[in-house]
Amino acid sequence: MQNAAGVTAKTNPRDQMGRPLRDLRISLLDQCNFRCPYCMPETEFHADYEFLTRQQRLSHDEIVRLASIAVNLGVTKLRLTGGEPLLDKKVADLVARLAKIEGVDDLALTTNAMLLAPVAQKLAAAGLHRVTISLDTLDTDIFRAMSGGRGDLATVIKGIEAAEQAGLSPVKINTVVQRGVNDHTVLDLLEHFRGSGHIVRLIEYMDVGNRNNWRLEEVVSSRESLQQIETRWPVRPVDPTYHGEVARRYEYVDGAGEIGFISSVTEPFCGSCSRARLSADGVLYTCLFASAGTSLRDPMRNGADDEELADILSRIWLRRNDRYSELRPTDAPLKRMRSKVEMYRVGG
Ligand code: GTP
Ligand code: 5AD
Ligand code: SF4
Ligand code: SF4
Repeated sequence: MQNAAGVTAKTNPRDQMGRPLRDLRISLLDQCNFRCPYCMPETEFHADYEFLTRQQRLSHDEIVRLASIAVNLGVTKLRLTGGEPLLDKKVADLVARLAKIEGVDDLALTTNAMLLAPVAQKLAAAGLHRVTISLDTLDTDIFRAMSGGRGDLATVIKGIEAAEQAGLSPVKINTVVQRGVNDHTVLDLLEHFRGSGHIVRLIEYMDVGNRNNWRLEEVVSSRESLQQIETRWPVRPVDPTYHGEVARRYEYVDGAGEIGFISSVTEPFCGSCSRARLSADGVLYTCLFASAGTSLRDPMRNGADDEELADILSRIWLRRNDRYSELRPTDAPLKRMRSKVEMYRVGG
């Protein structure tokens, strides 16, 4: 089967905009030990909230199977996410199995690092290449509030140190910048990591999901963050590390390292988006802002063989035309009309 781009669907599908499938983000579970208000506000995700059951979630065997099929179709990059992926006590065993799949060039994990320090070495030994750590501020009180009262800053810092010692590098630090919440603490955070070799990426606050009451006024644009940074340190742009890199890279002129800007709101990067997201219950989403996805778990549990599953995955990709960030409605009533997948289900 060939599509308009003339590419054989089974080996390397290209979507309606000619974008290949390269990157699979796998959510291991929908639970998290934090309650960041912009992702899982405590008011909604309380003690009675019904998360996926073990039976509903993909088993490790099923994850490895789907990942292998995706790699056969051209995926080279796997990222484990959550919720919080380290709540899966056997995550290192899964990493070891994913690391053995031939064709995986990049195997990463996104975590809030609360549980990282004790397992960093084990993850590295299992074959994990690197970690990305979500850390929005170094102000103890603001950190506490931004984690929904659950996080402990000193523990997270220990997690980052452990990742470095284990060689899970480059360690990237993801910082969501929210006006009036942590924007005034960004320079302190950058100062802390300057010269460490860790790459801080400032992320524009996004309208993911339906529950965070996102308002455009709360977005601090990358341009504004850059201007703020330039008042303190001279920086200059550097080339992307790979085609379609989400972050725009800058470096400190004095050699103290790199900063990334992720500008999904003000400078969308859908044109080169090669990412698919697999939720913990096996639903494949072709956009972070998708309203619906397609279950791969159900056909798999109904007996589909690898070829059939590859075919389903190919077809999903071939008909993909998502570019939400480029079309983002800013009109409030319009936004409310459209329901989107929740961030904690697809891990960002
Ligand atoms: P690297 O592989 O290290 O370049 O990381 P990455 O930027 O691919 O992934 P990461 O998980 O660190 O994502 C950083 C931030 O960018 C998160 O807030 C994601 O939600 C956001 N992000 C990642 N991919 C996309 C995307 O396809 N669309 C949008 N709008 N945001 C994305
Ligand atoms: N806007 C931007 N980034 C977000 N993240 C979670 N919710 C949002 C949001 N509304 C980030 C997390 C994590 C990454 C995977 O996504 O902080 O670093
Ligand atoms: Fe916060 Fe990440 Fe957990 Fe969401 S998944 S509540 S962003 S730590
Ligand atoms: Fe990709 Fe959707 Fe993000 Fe655009 S909005 S970059 S299509 S995930």
